[in-house]
Amino acid sequence: MVKLNVEIESVNKVHDEERQGEIYSATTLEGERNSGRKFYVETYGCQMNFSDSEIVASILSGEGFTPTDRYEDADVVLINTCSIRENAEQKVRSRLSEFRRMKKSNPEVLIGVLGCMAERLKSKFLEEEKIVDLVVGPDAYRDLPKLVAIADEGQKAVNVLLSREETYADINPVRLNSNGVTAFISIMRGCNNMCTFCVVPFTRGRERSRHPQSIAEEAKQLFNLGYREVTLLGQNVDSYLWKSEETKTAINFAQLLELVAQVNPLLRIRFSTSHPKDITDEVMIVMKKYSNICKHIHLPLQSGSSKVLERMNRTYDRAWYRMKVDRIRELMPECGISTDIITGFCGETEEDHKETLNMMDYVKYDLAYMFKYSERPGTFAERNFEDDVPDKVKSRRLQEVIEMQNKHQFENNSKEIDKEYEVLVEGFSKRSKEFLFGRNSQGKVIVFPKSNFEKGNYVKVRVKEFTSATLAGEIVR
Ligand code: 5AD
Ligand code: SF4
Repeated sequence: MVKLNVEIESVNKVHDEERQGEIYSATTLEGERNSGRKFYVETYGCQMNFSDSEIVASILSGEGFTPTDRYEDADVVLINTCSIRENAEQKVRSRLSEFRRMKKSNPEVLIGVLGCMAERLKSKFLEEEKIVDLVVGPDAYRDLPKLVAIADEGQKAVNVLLSREETYADINPVRLNSNGVTAFISIMRGCNNMCTFCVVPFTRGRERSRHPQSIAEEAKQLFNLGYREVTLLGQNVDSYLWKSEETKTAINFAQLLELVAQVNPLLRIRFSTSHPKDITDEVMIVMKKYSNICKHIHLPLQSGSSKVLERMNRTYDRAWYRMKVDRIRELMPECGISTDIITGFCGETEEDHKETLNMMDYVKYDLAYMFKYSERPGTFAERNFEDDVPDKVKSRRLQEVIEMQNKHQFENNSKEIDKEYEVLVEGFSKRSKEFLFGRNSQGKVIVFPKSNFEKGNYVKVRVKEFTSATLAGEIVR
């Protein structure tokens, strides 16, 4: 089965006992006032949003709040939102109507909207959803304790200022829903690309990169706490660039990758998202050089038609994209490649759609996130193009894309039989406690008998069975 989207919810859960003590002690007068109060945070959308919720949890914990994984027990209920497609926003709206019932029986509880929807709708949110007390954009989380204090006084509190500098570099995220093995590290914020369909540049602001040392430090700390894999996150990691005023030097993404790879050979490194226009040979060469940098690249195609790509302002065409895929395969034949695809963008013809299918057939992706185009208010496409592909046609094309992807995953996985991989164990298999699951370097999920292994171990596994979604294997002694 193909994973369609990542718009799932999460709740607070901190499994990291050591960190709790260090972070949950209140550090200010305000903190003492809040001691004993609980917060709950639910997250929708991309990995970056999940990472942001961990920053929010850290900020509130530092101010005396403790997390709870039941919203009914919370004094402050936060919902970290996504605007990328209309259905993501609808999910948040329906969740808010559930919270409305709770607020009726307990008017003291504060409801806060964070993230992209907060940024997009700003104080309009307060008019549209009367139960909301706080509206906080992605660059304003440091202000949360103050905003909560204002809301405590019965006033509505809003901060949706975007920043050119904020990277939360000094904040030690509280890992929510953690398996204790894998973690996200945000390396940059915002996006300067202006793809015409995308609301992200409006909700997350200008691109800025985080200090490389603070990134390496975070990776080191995670390793010392027992984590064995970090994913470096950015909307477009290939344009990461840290410029030092003092030394007049700069660090690009390839150099950052190398820095993090050197933290410890037992710490695996992943990253997301790459941009076909920006990914360099230098990045691929660093990937090849370090065995602990996972051989997987998420390279969104969006469309296989050069005409559509131009209208999307992706600034590459079919030929360029193919060249990048060829280069990846030339340097790292074993590298997994995944993608994002949009069907039914403005003006997409049957011919354009066929070109997307054709490109999929060329690359044979290991994983794909596939979407129907959803017009977003304020974007260039909304202002300048007509959303002219009928919904039925968008759906049919999406279905064809999904079917092709399933076929490719099945074929790709059938070739995995008898191959051996080093798997990092992430936990028990969903079906049985007798089995563990983990990922290989390419990011594929592999299930195998538990034996005497546990979370965080590296285990050599030989693939013996497959479906289009997972591999199953036996331990190689
Ligand atoms: N409609 C549908 N999909 C979108 N994406 C971004 N904006 C839209 C939109 N308006 C998809 C792109 C992007 C992924 C994160 O979400 O494929 O890579
Ligand atoms: Fe949106 Fe394009 Fe930036 Fe990705 S690279 S966040 S799709 S504008």
